[in-house]
Amino acid sequence: MSLSAAPLIDYLRELEGRGQKYVNVDDEARKILRAFYMRARAGTGSSVQQTQSKDEVAQVDVPPAVKVSNKPVANFADVEPVQDKQAGELVASGSSKKEQIASLKRQVVKWPAVSALTNLRKTMVFSVGNPDADIMLIGEAPGYDEERLAEPFVGKAGQKLDGILKAMGVDRKNAYITNIVKYRPAMPNQTTNNRQPTGLELEAFLPFIRKEIEVVAPKVIIALGVTSAQTLLASNESVASLRGKFHQFNAIPLRVSFHPSYILQNEATSEKRKIWEDMLAVMDLLKMPINEKQRGFFT
Ligand code: URA
Repeated sequence: MSLSAAPLIDYLRELEGRGQKYVNVDDEARKILRAFYMRARAGTGSSVQQTQSKDEVAQVDVPPAVKVSNKPVANFADVEPVQDKQAGELVASGSSKKEQIASLKRQVVKWPAVSALTNLRKTMVFSVGNPDADIMLIGEAPGYDEERLAEPFVGKAGQKLDGILKAMGVDRKNAYITNIVKYRPAMPNQTTNNRQPTGLELEAFLPFIRKEIEVVAPKVIIALGVTSAQTLLASNESVASLRGKFHQFNAIPLRVSFHPSYILQNEATSEKRKIWEDMLAVMDLLKMPINEKQRGFFT
């Protein structure tokens, strides 16, 4: 089977945009990276055959930008499609959506798959905004600023997101904003640096995001960035290949877009336009008014 480097590159760009300098890589990923590296050096493109032999890759150095460790690593392709075996036990009680979301939040701390995780920090960052909203935005996990204020998307990426929402004519308070993982992933000697959640961490929180979607029942979901998109869609495709159309999540239209941190890293107007086109598609779907000026942003 041929593996494409595109989703990995997307993801690493996102991390870089958030100031992350290193990623942890397990043995299997290390082999794949070595093979990518070999092919890039040989000028044979950005995909690699998984059947490459061990010996063939063993003599090549790991690309210098990647710090190698044997710690567990995020492997989004390994996240089972819809493996919320325990989700049936998760009951969102209450008569309003607000109460039901509060009930889910209370259950996080005693949820066995979450309690079993040992590499998350202690402050829960559940969600923000209006549970009756038409638009639900889903990111990956809180970072330093989000943990500090116990609110999703309040750091630099959050400010970009607020700008995008404002351009759509949507106040942050009128959207529902959440992450798949509800705690900031921990790292040794951590200060302001963040890491991506592992596959196991994403998997442990899947029942919550699924139930949150069920409770909010938005008219549209926007998956922000590759981790959110791949996890929700059980895909290992890049954002570039997942965007541009509506997917379905339990019959709710889901649009994939780049993580707002992507435009912190890549300020090119063409990249901003891509995000904006995703938002225009959402606005069209919701039959929101769009004026000429809005249609033409970033052209
Ligand atoms: N990135 C995310 O995916 N979520 C946040 O809340 C902040 C940054």
